[in-house]
Amino acid sequence: MGPVRTELMWQSVVDAVDVAGAGDALDVLDLGGGTGSDAVRLAALGHRVTVVDPSPDALASLHRRGVEAGLTEGVNAVQGDAADLLDHVAPSSFDLVICHDVLEHVDDPGQALATISTVLRPGGHVSVVVAGRNAAVAARALAGDFVTARSLVGRSAGTWDVRSMGPRRFVVGEVEDLLTSRGFVPVATTGVRVFADLVPSAIVDTEPGARDALYALERLLSTSEDFTALSAGLHTIARLDLSVATPDPGGKSAAL
Ligand SMILES: C[S@@+](CC[C@H](N)C(=O)[O-])C[C@H]1O[C@@H](n2cnc3c(N)ncnc32)[C@H](O)[C@@H]1O
Repeated sequence: MGPVRTELMWQSVVDAVDVAGAGDALDVLDLGGGTGSDAVRLAALGHRVTVVDPSPDALASLHRRGVEAGLTEGVNAVQGDAADLLDHVAPSSFDLVICHDVLEHVDDPGQALATISTVLRPGGHVSVVVAGRNAAVAARALAGDFVTARSLVGRSAGTWDVRSMGPRRFVVGEVEDLLTSRGFVPVATTGVRVFADLVPSAIVDTEPGARDALYALERLLSTSEDFTALSAGLHTIARLDLSVATPDPGGKSAAL
């Protein structure tokens, strides 16, 4: 097994694929897919993957990763971002959109989800992982930075300016409300990494069996609402509900 963090993040992709169409070869968009660790693994499983990411360096790493994995097809890499997504991919062309650790960085997460809804096929799914605000409070407090911890408590994702405040943090209700307001029906929200980011790597890497035991603990806690609220990552899988009118992706987004 690789690093626990990587494996837990990969498991959230596997869980999304299972919900979106277990056993089928899917058309998957990995928006903000970065260096393609998930995309290459998905392609190796037979899915057709498109990565859209603004970073040329990340896309170059993705290319190298694909070559090293011996993939000659299965991943289509495009330089672009959430705001110009429709310049790069066709409407209604994906079964699943993966959007992991990306809504923290975009200017307008609601706008990004509205655009994602237009590139999904009817009944398609989105998998969103965002950084949890409560975990950030705990991490700051445990590091002795009580002032920042306190300031994070009162911040809302809806008024978070990423340019002046850094990556946005969410609580579960904000993610689910954001999805619902863009025509999605949340299927499940789970926690990713309750402890994995907090445990010193010296323990995980040197204690015999610690890595497997931590992974098993994280998987057990992932479906507990109490622990999800404290997780570093909040993972929501949601289905596009065509009976709910979605806003025009070119239009002004509603409040979170
Ligand atoms: C923390 S990395 C996550 C990478 C990958 N999704 C993962 O889970 O490993 C954030 C990624 O979002 C990309 N990104 C930043 N702003 C974006 C935007 N406006 N639209 C799409 N992707 C964006 C970055 O280039 C980077 O690759």
